[in-house]
Amino acid sequence: MSAPPQLPGVVTRAHALSRRRGFVSSCRNETGWLLATLAATRTGTLAESGTGCGVGSAWLRSGMRDEARLVTAEHDAGLVEAVREMFAGDDAVSVFEADWKELAHEAPFSLLFLDVREAKRAGPDVAAALVEPGGLVVLDDFTPCATWPPMYQGRVDVTRQQWLTDPRFTTVEVMVAVDASVLIATRR
Ligand SMILES: C[S@@+](CC[C@H](N)C(=O)[O-])C[C@H]1O[C@@H](n2cnc3c(N)ncnc32)[C@H](O)[C@@H]1O
Repeated sequence: MSAPPQLPGVVTRAHALSRRRGFVSSCRNETGWLLATLAATRTGTLAESGTGCGVGSAWLRSGMRDEARLVTAEHDAGLVEAVREMFAGDDAVSVFEADWKELAHEAPFSLLFLDVREAKRAGPDVAAALVEPGGLVVLDDFTPCATWPPMYQGRVDVTRQQWLTDPRFTTVEVMVAVDASVLIATRR
C-alpha cells in the first residue's frame, strides 16, 4: 500500500485504546486514509454510526477542516466513556451513547460513515434521509468482487447491490487493498 507510514497522533491514541480493550473491529488504515481524505473535503456535520474504540472517528478528525464537527454514536457505555476521554478538550467531536438511529437529531450530514452492521444492511433508505445533497455515505469492510451482481461467499451481496443501484445516490466501490473495498455514495 502506498501511504505515509506515520499515522496521525489521534489515530495512534485510538489504536492504543483498541489494544488495551482487546477491540478488533476498528477500521483498517487503508480505509482510514480514505476517511481522512474525504473528511478534508467537507464542511458542516460529519457523522459516524458505531464508534467502537474511536479509530474511525480519529481518522475523520485528522482530516477535518476547522469549521467542521463530528458526531459519533455508540451503544456500549464503556466504549463511549473511553472514547470521550480520548477526545477530551476537543469541541469538534461529540460522542453520543445512543443507538445509531438517534443520530437523526443531528442531521443533515455532509458525510456519514455507516459502520454498524444493522445500519449497513438497512440499505440506503435511512441514510438518504440523513445526508444533505452532495453529501457522502461511506461503508467499508467489503470483499472486492469483479462480477455483477456482486457476490460474497457464493451469494448475491444484496447490500452492495442496493447501494450501487439506488437512484438517490451515485455510488462507486473502491478497492483500498487487495482484500478490502469501500463504497462511497454521493447523495444526488
Ligand atoms: C465495526 S465497529 C465500529 C468501528 C469504528 N467505526 C471504527 O472505524 O473504528 C461497530 C460498533 O458499532 C457498535 N454498535 C452495534 N450496534 C449498534 C447500534 N445499534 N447503535 C450504536 N452502536 C452500535 C458496536 O458496539 C461496535 O462498537
